[in-house]
Amino acid sequence: MANTILVGAQWGDEGKGKIIDVLTERADIVVRTQGGNNAGHTVYIGPQKYVLHLVPSGILRPGKTCVIGNGVVIDPVSLMGEINGLIKLGVNINGSLFVSETAHVVFPYHRELDELRELRKGKNKIGTTKRGIGPAYGDKAARTGLRIIDLIHPERFAAKLKVRIKDNNEVLRAFGAKGLSYKKVHDAYRAAGDALKPYVRNTVTLLHEATQRKANILFEGAQGTFLDIDHGTYPFVTSSNTTAGGASTGSGVAPNRMDKVVGVMKAYTTRVGEGPLPTENEEIADMLHGMGREFGSTTGRARRCGWFDAVATRHATMVNGIDELAVTNIDGLDSLETIKVCTGYRCGDLKYDHVPNDIESFSNCVPVYEELPGWQTPTTGITSWKKLPQKTRAYLKVICDLTGAKLTIASVGPAREQTIFV
Ligand code: IMP
Repeated sequence: MANTILVGAQWGDEGKGKIIDVLTERADIVVRTQGGNNAGHTVYIGPQKYVLHLVPSGILRPGKTCVIGNGVVIDPVSLMGEINGLIKLGVNINGSLFVSETAHVVFPYHRELDELRELRKGKNKIGTTKRGIGPAYGDKAARTGLRIIDLIHPERFAAKLKVRIKDNNEVLRAFGAKGLSYKKVHDAYRAAGDALKPYVRNTVTLLHEATQRKANILFEGAQGTFLDIDHGTYPFVTSSNTTAGGASTGSGVAPNRMDKVVGVMKAYTTRVGEGPLPTENEEIADMLHGMGREFGSTTGRARRCGWFDAVATRHATMVNGIDELAVTNIDGLDSLETIKVCTGYRCGDLKYDHVPNDIESFSNCVPVYEELPGWQTPTTGITSWKKLPQKTRAYLKVICDLTGAKLTIASVGPAREQTIFV
């Protein structure tokens, strides 16, 4: 399989969890490289549903090594909750999971500030997951963050946390909020730090050794291309590099060790949170929500839905270097008579065949659509490319050609068996 980077080609929630799980079969190591517990990867194995927020989805396949890399921001209390939940479900974690000592720590003041800043923004809010992700990456960039290596050294941690709590309490009070108790935060985090210690490693050297023995590494992306801090619809983005480059900086595995980029995209488009979504459409949203689909796995929020946006996915191919595509949720379109695909944008007199950098222009873009016939046949039980309706194959060919990469996986349902290798 070689070293493969998996990215979301849209606004997150592309169904990456399932594709990661499928690709993990051929991987030795699975690495998470950015984001925090704002992510939610859902994997179904038989009747059991697993929702993973920080632990790489590879943990669900015995014998695989999973790494939480330096680029991730970790709420250790939440991570320990997730680990204990997995252990209860019979998943083996010991010796399988390693956590980077240089990953940054998310604290309760990050969560509080996330919420307070959103409130203050009012109608201009980002619609964050309120997990403290932005403020934690803010501290990292401002060089005021604490890292996992600090968390597992009690004295160092106590001294640094004291200063951070004092500073942040001043900020919280300026917002009109209550300050946090140093002792409460300290005790909860130290307990989590002790529990986490056996998993903590220098993951850069661990991964370097793995590349030297030619292990196959899968870099699992969280969120999606248009939530990238540099390449997304800023400021309506998350605070990390969700695009392929983030896999290198977030793991310490050099770019010239990467072999392939797989982009995951839904057969339509969804987004949670605020910000532009040119192909947003109420009818398709009602249809999908009516089917019980498209509710966020982290916050439970109903996702905004729209037609497939090929301008966006083509842009994603450009910034990620996508070689292969996995298209998910094809069955979500099974009942439609006609399906629209956005092939360009119009903004006043201007025509765009790429995503404009100016958020104002992007917000005012009107999609130009091509219409394709729907297949109006259930696809959920289909297990081979040849057995897919001809109209489904034609639709997939059009969206992958427009995106500019090769279709290799078509997914017609959440289960492992509902995966068609093309
Ligand atoms: P934050 O990452 O919580 O700061 O949220 C910033 C934006 O990214 C918001 O619009 C969120 O809804 C979105 N977001 C963050 N994580 C995910 C995810 O895993 N899936 C989809 N959207 C996400």
